[in-house]
Amino acid sequence: MTDLSRIGIAIPGELLDKFDELIEKRGYSNRSEAFRDLIRNELVQEVWQTSDTEVFGIVTLVYNHHVRQLTDKLTDLQHEYHHAVMSSLHVHLDHDNCLEVILVRGKAQVVQKLSNSLIATKGVKHGRFTVTTSGQNLP
Ligand code: NI
Repeated sequence: MTDLSRIGIAIPGELLDKFDELIEKRGYSNRSEAFRDLIRNELVQEVWQTSDTEVFGIVTLVYNHHVRQLTDKLTDLQHEYHHAVMSSLHVHLDHDNCLEVILVRGKAQVVQKLSNSLIATKGVKHGRFTVTTSGQNLP
């Protein structure tokens, strides 16, 4: 890493204690890297909320494949948004349950819409959407 700037931050002691506990749990070796990651996260969120640039994300779904037409609905949605779907991984967790991980890319609005539709599909037991970035504009 080049061009490091040093800054001083005023922060209530109690808040700093909580922060130190948190970053230790998460395995950070020092505060600086934890602060940098917090800032990067906020920058990625900002891109997701405002910009027209390409974004990347991961949708995870857990569902019971015996639910009538559910698998078809999830597949139809992905075909409808095929430009946004890069890849998907399907794992048969047990006799009934499936885990699907779908990697998506595209304009934030489009990708968000796809993800919302997948997660909201009736019969999906658990759905999560994780946003990430190409990393190009992130120091
Ligand atoms: Ni399955």
